[in-house]
Amino acid sequence: MAIQEKERGKERAAASKTVKVIQWGEQFVVDGGVIDRDHKTLFGLINEFNQNIPRYQSFDQMVAVLAALKTYTQTHFQREEKPQEISGYPFQEDHKKEHAEIINNFDGWVQKAKSANEDTITAVSVEIGSFLREWLTEHVIEQDLPMKPYVERMREHARGMGELVQDSTRPSP
Ligand SMILES: [Fe+2]
Repeated sequence: MAIQEKERGKERAAASKTVKVIQWGEQFVVDGGVIDRDHKTLFGLINEFNQNIPRYQSFDQMVAVLAALKTYTQTHFQREEKPQEISGYPFQEDHKKEHAEIINNFDGWVQKAKSANEDTITAVSVEIGSFLREWLTEHVIEQDLPMKPYVERMREHARGMGELVQDSTRPSP
């Protein structure tokens, strides 16, 4: 028993050395606002999942982080879809489908986490953690960055509207 625990400890220590933290950088900037803030939060949650790998003792600890991540991701997707509808973003239907697929994937990751026992928990958490990392970078780079020019156009439009509103409130000479 003690030997087994020692082995698990070694495995955890080895896994912690392979954990990659995703650093936020300029290459991920989509809107310089709320979408970027959400993405930074998601980066933080996924880094937290990965940095906890050496400490997971039972699957419910992983499931708790995954549940928080899923809830935040759902909120984020709603925040992304709204301006796309308003601006008539041409890829909004595809983007919505990708979002729905990711939410479904979370259920698969939770199932995977639940399949872990004390002997497999480190390997399973490494696997889920790398899925999460790949998903997030792919989501931002491949799915969200194409939104950038549309977001900029929307902002210019909103600025124009602001000026119009200001003009109409100006007292007539
Ligand atoms: Fe996003």
